[in-house]
Amino acid sequence: MKPRFHALKGVEDILPPDTYLWRDIERKAMQAFGPCGFEEIKIPIIEHTELFLRSIGETTDIVEKEMYTFTDKGGRSVTLRPEGTAPVVRAYVEHNLATRPSPQKFFYRGPMFRYERPQKGRQRQFYQIGVEAFGVAEPGIDAEVIAMLIDFLEKAGLSSSLSLELNSIGCDVCRPDYKAKLREYFGGRLSELCPDCARRFEQNPLRILDCKVERCAALKQDAPLITDSLCEACRTHFDELKNLLGNLGIDYKLNPRMVRGLDYYTRTTFEVTTNLLGAQNAVAAGGRYDKLVEEFGGPPTPAIGFAAGTERLAALLQSTLKAPSPSLFIATLGAEASREALKMAVSLRRKGIWTEIGYGGASLKSQLRKADRTGAVYVFIIGEDELRERKAKWKNLKDGSSGEVRLEDAEGFIQNAGQRLA
Ligand code: HAM
Repeated sequence: MKPRFHALKGVEDILPPDTYLWRDIERKAMQAFGPCGFEEIKIPIIEHTELFLRSIGETTDIVEKEMYTFTDKGGRSVTLRPEGTAPVVRAYVEHNLATRPSPQKFFYRGPMFRYERPQKGRQRQFYQIGVEAFGVAEPGIDAEVIAMLIDFLEKAGLSSSLSLELNSIGCDVCRPDYKAKLREYFGGRLSELCPDCARRFEQNPLRILDCKVERCAALKQDAPLITDSLCEACRTHFDELKNLLGNLGIDYKLNPRMVRGLDYYTRTTFEVTTNLLGAQNAVAAGGRYDKLVEEFGGPPTPAIGFAAGTERLAALLQSTLKAPSPSLFIATLGAEASREALKMAVSLRRKGIWTEIGYGGASLKSQLRKADRTGAVYVFIIGEDELRERKAKWKNLKDGSSGEVRLEDAEGFIQNAGQRLA
């Protein structure tokens, strides 16, 4: 018995025709990001574990429970990236990108890894399309980045069914005060919290607000709101952002309980959610992280970004999938006709025309069945008689029309047909 291998749990193959949808989503992202000056950056899939501990935060679910961490053969602790922001910030600092004209704006796409419980819309290997913009403290860039995300989602074909949630989670100045208020509020309810939250209470009570356990979710309903504790500078920033979004005609819902699952955020946080995906309702999310570049040893540099989950976008866009199919399928009878078909196919493919050949020594009938299954628009039939007369029979499988074409005119016929179809 040979072993039959399966992909790991929560790790999925993306097969054609879905890959067309994925490619389309990425293309739409680039169309939206390009005019805003975001350039592609390719970051490694694997990093020093410490990078994620120091940025995402040691008390987060991601770091405590979900990272694919192992010791490499050199004895280093390494981790498959659970997200892209920390690696981009590392690259920004490592390559002194702060010396380039500001703002520096990047986008990236690729797989991320989190050991979560797989369910609909939640995988252990999932793809993100993300952006990060460095060097602007003003709320204008927050509005720009959010507007760009909305444009991307609209270009991709999603606008209804989505909602933008917005919050500000303060800064180093106002957050200690807010944490104190949270400790005061949850302090009397410690025994009611889940074990994780009870443990995180001292170190980072904000995490309690992000807990999905039912009893914590119920408790936090009456917890103090961060937006009531913002310092003057954070409040002004937030108010201006709301004004700017209003000016741009971008609808949003304030969600003062949204703290996000990563510790690096300061001030603005946002999520785009849908009611069409069940529990995993966040399609994209992001925020400001004004301290992270400094935390990684770079100069003080404000920054903001977001990431969208490609699987979730693809699930929402499934019904729009339009996969291409061959323009031509050449069915042949006899070795000589096969050789002629190969010559023709190679020449047409060089011109960019998707051409398939009916291999397998099969009967004409089975070749035509196969042509139909590939979704080909035209079939050429070349048998011994056709070869002798230097012609091919053609059939349009979409409208049923048929005829004959001389072999020397066949390529032109298909090229013109392609133009007629376009
Ligand atoms: P995040 O909220 O952890 O943020 O992830 C962003 C998006 O990735 C989510 O809204 C969701 O669409 C998708 N996603 C996350 N986990 C999974 C999963 N297990 N399966 C499928 N999709 C998933 C970040 O990662 C931040 N780095 C975003 C950011 C960029 N903030 C600033 N810049």
